[in-house]
Amino acid sequence: MTSQDNIHPEFSRQLGREDKQSLLGQRGVVLWLCGLSGSGKSTMANALERALHDEGKYAVILDGDNLRSGLNGDLGFSDEDRHENIRRTAEVAKILSSNGAIVILSLITPQEENRAQAREIIGESYREIFIKADFETCQQRDVKGLYAKQAKGEIKNFTGAGSSFQEPVSPDLVIDTDALTEAESLQKLIEFYRSTDHGKL
Ligand code: ADX
Repeated sequence: MTSQDNIHPEFSRQLGREDKQSLLGQRGVVLWLCGLSGSGKSTMANALERALHDEGKYAVILDGDNLRSGLNGDLGFSDEDRHENIRRTAEVAKILSSNGAIVILSLITPQEENRAQAREIIGESYREIFIKADFETCQQRDVKGLYAKQAKGEIKNFTGAGSSFQEPVSPDLVIDTDALTEAESLQKLIEFYRSTDHGKL
């Protein structure tokens, strides 16, 4: 007998997704923004949250750096730890979206298998959005000063250097922040949200 044998999930007596969605007047969805550090994920997530909020929509941001200072504070940047970071975050996103929230994720999610795992956990509410910028662009932006530290050899397993980033194979949307302004990128993201079934209640 494992400890799992004594777990009795309590789903059927709880209010369902439809109850929450009709209260909120929206559908739950997970907009999973992946991409290199400095590609613009957090900027896009913050701007989208505000735009939706102004329309009276309830959105929640799950940001990699924020989660790593709390729920995922015990995890580092090995492949195993990133896997666990992404698994936990996907499980939280699943709970929130099944309670009607528009969940905006901002997580590097470097490997295709990480994204497949997130899709598997979340199911049909998962939308993958690749925030695309070259390593060199991110290095020049270096908002957090991490690329400079990495160049001095102070950060091991840095994404795009000591640790690889695989470009998404079949994202639902690509936003190229090398080519678009912040306003254009946001516009594209909002249009995408509205075009999905989830943006139409
Ligand atoms: S993920 O790979 O597991 O998806 P996550 O998005 O949670 O990564 O965390 C990335 C953030 O952690 C970056 O935005 C950056 O601020 C910080 N960070 C610290 N060390 C690293 C590292 N080795 N590689 C990438 N990001 C790092």
